[in-house]
Amino acid sequence: MRIDRKRLEASMDALGRVGATPKGGLNRLALTDDDRRGRDLLVTWMREAGLAVTVDQMGNIFGIRAGADGLPPVLMGSHADSVPTGGRYDGQLGVLCALEVIRTLNDGKVSTRHPVGMVIFTNEEGARFQPAMIGSGVMAGKIPLEDAYNARDRDGLRLGDELERIGYLGSEPCVPRPLRAYLELHIEQGPFLEEEGIPVGIVEGIVAIAWSRLTLTGVQDHAGPTPMRIRHDALVAAADVVRGVRDIPRTIGGDLVSTVGRLDVTPNIPNAIPGRVALSIDLRAPDEHHVTRALGLVDRLATEAAHAEGVDYELDHYWRVPRTHFDLEVVDTIERAARSLRCGHRRILSGAGHDAQYMAAICPTGMIFVPSRDGRSHCEEEFTAMDDIEHGANTLLLAGAALAGQA
Ligand code: GLV
Ligand code: MN
Ligand code: MN
Repeated sequence: MRIDRKRLEASMDALGRVGATPKGGLNRLALTDDDRRGRDLLVTWMREAGLAVTVDQMGNIFGIRAGADGLPPVLMGSHADSVPTGGRYDGQLGVLCALEVIRTLNDGKVSTRHPVGMVIFTNEEGARFQPAMIGSGVMAGKIPLEDAYNARDRDGLRLGDELERIGYLGSEPCVPRPLRAYLELHIEQGPFLEEEGIPVGIVEGIVAIAWSRLTLTGVQDHAGPTPMRIRHDALVAAADVVRGVRDIPRTIGGDLVSTVGRLDVTPNIPNAIPGRVALSIDLRAPDEHHVTRALGLVDRLATEAAHAEGVDYELDHYWRVPRTHFDLEVVDTIERAARSLRCGHRRILSGAGHDAQYMAAICPTGMIFVPSRDGRSHCEEEFTAMDDIEHGANTLLLAGAALAGQA
């Protein structure tokens, strides 16, 4: 039993056109009109594949193929939202490979003991609404539903309202449900598989992640008449923080990474001293303790930078996801599937967050990685070769079928 590569590629092309950017990337932010168009297309395909489709209170979309016995399903999936100027593989590849697995089971009239299903999670990226992985986070009971609904984008629009606006505010309770397993295929988004010429990564777990928001408040004033000695420039304090955050991994070591990815400057015009800056801090490490120590350094950095420039600050460590270890049986099952396909594979740790991280809290979970060209992702240049995708999708097929069991 093997997936149909041409059919998968055609679906990738069709979904990739929804929110396509001129440079071949994707801009399909969560709960925008393009997200709705992408969801509608996926739901059409899911129904055509005979799946029973439901939508939960977070807009997570489920499609279930019945099993022979009344057992909990094997769920496969990922997300269909993208970052702005992102690529056509992050997220949607996992969703389309799950669909392709189901189509392949249908072609072979395969009857499984456990139902096999697919899921499309809402707002995995956290690019429009923070935090990331919000749909799976609510489902796993890690984020309160009301908090998720009240998340606001840059324009002040509420996630709950946007869900309703695009027609994906479902009625199914967004709560843990009995599942045999959750499997997610995803691009690696790092360099290791490509460097080693290995098509399939057997993901053993995901790094610990922490997100913080720092708001610096100085004094907005005219850029001309205001002498340097009386300025309190929020952006100058922010610059110290950006530099300092960049240096944290050198102090802590252990593969910790740190990023300031977002800077909102007010009023953001050439001729005013910035009165207010809000910035994001993203910390990740394989060792939970390193993240905790890094957060302590961020506290100190904010205090020192604010003091040096005479500005006020507010620091909110608002999101943390613990280091995740995937289920040993599922990891072994994926490895056996890759081995039986005789394709190169190795075990690997994920540096990116995924819905699988939250799903691991409620059911046996595992992931499959395929290589990213030049290790690049969250950019329009994101690319994975079809040969690698085929190996990954077949691994998903065999692992999913093994976990679902032959009827
Ligand atoms: C999701 O893309 C993440 O931030 O890891
Ligand atoms: Mn992703
Ligand atoms: Mn992503």
